[in-house]
Amino acid sequence: MVTEIPHTLPRKSATFDDYTLSEIRRAAATGIYDIRGGGAKRRLPHFDDLLFLGASMSRYPLEGYREKCETEVVLGTRFAKNPIVLDIPITIAGMSFGSLSAQAKEALGRGASLAGTSTTTGDGGMTPEERGQSKMLVYQYLPSRYGMNPVDLRKADAIEIVVGQGAKPGGGGMLLGQKISDRVAEMRNLPMGIDQRSSCRHPDWTGPDDLEIKIQELREITNWEKPIYIKIGGARPYYDTTLSIKAGADVVVLDGMQGGTAATQEVFIEHVGQPTLACIRPAVKALQDLGMHRKVQLVLSGGIRNGADVAKALALGADAVSIGTAALVAMGDNDPALEAEYNKLGTTAGAYDDWQDGRDPAGISTQDPELSARLDPVKAGHRLANYLKVMTLEAQTIARACGKSHVHNLEPEDLVALTVEAAAMAQVPLAGTDWIPGRDRY
Ligand SMILES: Cc1cc2nc3c(=O)[nH]c(=O)nc-3n(C[C@H](O)[C@H](O)[C@H](O)COP(=O)(O)O)c2cc1C
Repeated sequence: MVTEIPHTLPRKSATFDDYTLSEIRRAAATGIYDIRGGGAKRRLPHFDDLLFLGASMSRYPLEGYREKCETEVVLGTRFAKNPIVLDIPITIAGMSFGSLSAQAKEALGRGASLAGTSTTTGDGGMTPEERGQSKMLVYQYLPSRYGMNPVDLRKADAIEIVVGQGAKPGGGGMLLGQKISDRVAEMRNLPMGIDQRSSCRHPDWTGPDDLEIKIQELREITNWEKPIYIKIGGARPYYDTTLSIKAGADVVVLDGMQGGTAATQEVFIEHVGQPTLACIRPAVKALQDLGMHRKVQLVLSGGIRNGADVAKALALGADAVSIGTAALVAMGDNDPALEAEYNKLGTTAGAYDDWQDGRDPAGISTQDPELSARLDPVKAGHRLANYLKVMTLEAQTIARACGKSHVHNLEPEDLVALTVEAAAMAQVPLAGTDWIPGRDRY
C-alpha cells in the first residue's frame, strides 16, 4: 500500500511578512522611500499596558454624582504674566495650515473653545479663521519660520518653540507640491506646487544657551505676558527636558514616537524615537531633580486616544496631554462612511495615511477646494468638543474611583503594569507583584 506523504502548509515568514514584501516591491519599482502621515503603526508598549487599581478597603473612592473631581490646568506659571487656564487637561496639538485645510483648522479652534481648552497653530502660520474661533491659541515658532511674523506672535496666547516632534525627532517637515495652494504658498512665501521640506533645526541658535537668549527676545516682544513652551520629540527626554528648563521654558511639550505627523518618511516614523510611555518618567525625573515638577508644566502627546490614556499620563506626572490624530478622527478622518472613496485611493477606512497627497475625502488633510468644502467647521467643531468632553469624563471617573478630587492627584501608586516592559518604562509594579524593573534609576 502506498501512503501519501502529507504536504506541510505553505508558511509565510514573520520577518518577511506581506507588508514588508510589498514595501520591497514598491521601493524596487519607484526608487524612492515611502512618505506618509500618521504615527508609528507597529505595536509598541503603550498606555494599554497599564491598569488602574481603583479603591477598595485600603483606599476610599469618591462618589460620582456628589463629590467633585476638578480638571482645571494652569500652564505657564513660571514666568508669564498671563498663564493659560484650561478647563480640561487635554489640549489640541500643533497641526499646520497646509497639512490641514482652513476648514479643519477652524473646526479645531471651535471644538477646543467649546471644550474650554487651547489649540495650536503649526508649520505655516496663523489663519484668521483659527484665531477668530480659538479662545486660547498657542503660536508655534518652528525651524522653518513659515508664516512666522511678530504681529501674529503678539496675537497669540502662548508661544511654542518647536525643537522636535515625536514622529520624527531630528527631522524637518514636508509639504508636497499638491498641497501648496495659492493661499498656502502666500503664507509660507513659497512657489506654488513645488515640494517643500522644512529645516530640521532652527537657523539662529544651536543649543540651550542661545535658545535662552531667543526666549528672552520672544518675552520682550510679547511683554513677558505669554507663556513660552518648548516642544521636544521623544528622543532623550531626561536631558532634553533638563535643557528646556535651563533655557527658560514655562512649559515642556513632550511628544512620543506614536505621535502623528502630516507627512514624513515611513522609515522615520517607525524607527526613530522612543515610545510615549518610555518618555514620560525620565522627563518627570528631570523636572523633579531641578525642583520644577508642577512649576514648569509637562504636556505629553503621542497616541492619546481616550480618558484612560489621559488619566495614565497624568498619574505618571504630566500636567496635561495634547492630541492630534484623535482630534482629526473625531472630526471625520478615516470615517468608514467614506469607505468607497478610500477604496478608490487604494486603501481602507482606518488605514488611510496618505495625508501628504491632499486627496482626503473627509476634507481634512487637503487643500483641494471641493474636498475641503465637505468639512463643515461648525459640525466638526461640535464633534471634537463632544469627544473632548467624553475623554474628560472618563478621566474624572477613573480619578474618582482612585479617591482623587483633582485629576492631578492621580499618581504612579495608582497604577500597575501588565508587561515587564511597561513596568520598567512607567516605573510601576508588574501586576500581582511589587517588582518595578529598574527601580534603582528613580
Ligand atoms: C496632520 C498633522 C499635522 C501636524 N503638524 C505639525 C506642525 O505643524 N508642528 C508640530 O510641531 N507638530 C505637528 N504635528 C504633530 C502634532 O503636533 C502632535 O505632536 C502629534 O500629532 C501628537 O500625536 P497624536 O497625533 O498621536 O495625538 C502634526 C500632526 C498631524 C497629525
